[in-house]
Amino acid sequence: MIDLHNHLLPGIDDGPADLDTALDMARMAVANGISHVVCTPHIHAGRYDNDSTSILKACTDFNRALRAAGIDLHVGAAAEVRFSGELMTRVMDGSIPFLGQWEGKKALLLEFPHGQMPFGAERLTQWLLDNGVVPIIAHPERNKVLMDTPSKLKPFIEQGCLLQVTAASAAGRFGERAMHLAHELLRHRVVSIMATDAHNLDHRPPQLQEGLLQAARILGDREAERLVIDTPWRIAHQHFA
Ligand SMILES: [Fe+2]
Repeated sequence: MIDLHNHLLPGIDDGPADLDTALDMARMAVANGISHVVCTPHIHAGRYDNDSTSILKACTDFNRALRAAGIDLHVGAAAEVRFSGELMTRVMDGSIPFLGQWEGKKALLLEFPHGQMPFGAERLTQWLLDNGVVPIIAHPERNKVLMDTPSKLKPFIEQGCLLQVTAASAAGRFGERAMHLAHELLRHRVVSIMATDAHNLDHRPPQLQEGLLQAARILGDREAERLVIDTPWRIAHQHFA
């Protein structure tokens, strides 16, 4: 399986603080059936001031450590980019790494604030689409506004944004309401990828299996596999060329 949203790179955001923990997370991912990951550290101005350069360096160092430890996990890097007005500038100046490609456009993992849906958000996503970037909305099922009013996702889906649901949400680990919305989105077949959003070894581990099981219950085995194998590979295979 291929995981396109996780915080495995050490010491760069709120993922693992040290390399040993990151290596243990990599071992856990492999044990869970994950062969490839694109690490997506936060880019969140004033909080996690990462950019393409710092993230690629962390990824190179991590790959070297993985090889030295004999862990068979293929690792690339992109970012989970926080919604903000300055996103337009940063897309233009090339300081943001992309998750991959989707239908001729660059794919960007986009994070909204958890407690709200920014006013006019769909104007920014439309701007991105018009400028050759497909937003992949990170875990919409965990957004409080969308939990209350799932129909607020509709304009984004109609524009052509993709949705990433977190495996742990589908498995009930973020509560009843996030699980309910995750299942609802799966049932409506508007989810493109399922990912771990792993941050650590205990509360937010790098595991896809239990979410996959729930997706398979709703969609059947083959369609569920597309969320963790076919579609993530289609988006991000160039990281592993
Ligand atoms: Fe994340």
